[in-house]
Amino acid sequence: MRSVTENDEAQVAGQADSTIEAFLADRQDGSSRVTLRPLTSRDQSEFLELVDASIDLHHPWMSLPSTPEAFQAYLTRYEQPNEEALLICVRSTGAIAGMVNINNIIRGRFQCGSVGYAAFAPTAGQGYMTEGLELVVRHAFERLRLHRLEAQIQPDNQASLRLIRRVGFRHEGYSPELLFIDGAWRDHERWAITSSMIDIAPTDPHPTLPER
Ligand SMILES: CC(C)(COP(=O)(O)OP(=O)(O)OC[C@H]1O[C@@H](n2cnc3c(N)ncnc32)[C@H](O)[C@@H]1OP(=O)(O)O)[C@@H](O)C(=O)NCCC(=O)NCCS
Repeated sequence: MRSVTENDEAQVAGQADSTIEAFLADRQDGSSRVTLRPLTSRDQSEFLELVDASIDLHHPWMSLPSTPEAFQAYLTRYEQPNEEALLICVRSTGAIAGMVNINNIIRGRFQCGSVGYAAFAPTAGQGYMTEGLELVVRHAFERLRLHRLEAQIQPDNQASLRLIRRVGFRHEGYSPELLFIDGAWRDHERWAITSSMIDIAPTDPHPTLPER
């Protein structure tokens, strides 16, 4: 694997594209049916069509932008260096199978981000989200040099709980009225994975991590 340099760090802050490309270039071993790429303005029409086709799958768990205006506002949010919007795409067709966002990235002593994800109905239930989320975890630890990813999941969202467990997250607890979803404050289970829980390529610590 290519070593990580301080020069890469400048790219992490402002250019998620080159970070994810560098990550994938290191992982072209053909073992995965999916690949990751950042969401861009060119994805607007396919993304909105998929959101429309997935209303029943997403309700009441996830609300994604469903108009061009909402999509543009969403893109603007994910241009921030502490937010990353990724698409899971099927290698053989290029079709967008799902999305994973790494939200609220906090550096310093925390080195943590929070994942939000959804499959799209045409390709749901074929294991693409499992493979894609596994890639996102590796990207977060090996390239973004995060230490920890969190996921907040409503107790009745069985598909999401099965997925997060399958990817290797650990159940940490329960927070009443944690997030405002579908018109009310909802209780959530707290799940997380840390870089010591999987076998990742060795990386230098992120420069914002204190020495002690
Ligand atoms: C949660 C969610 C993302 C799961 O997506 P998915 O497409 O069903 O995920 P996968 O295809 O990876 O896994 C689903 C099933 O496919 C199975 N599967 C089928 N073919 C497979 C294959 N070739 N390889 C691996 N798994 C396969 C998996 O074993 C899994 O089975 P299980 O859930 O019964 O245990 C989806 O249900 C969703 O979008 N829900 C609404 C949004 C949401 O809840 N987001 C999370 C908020 S916390």
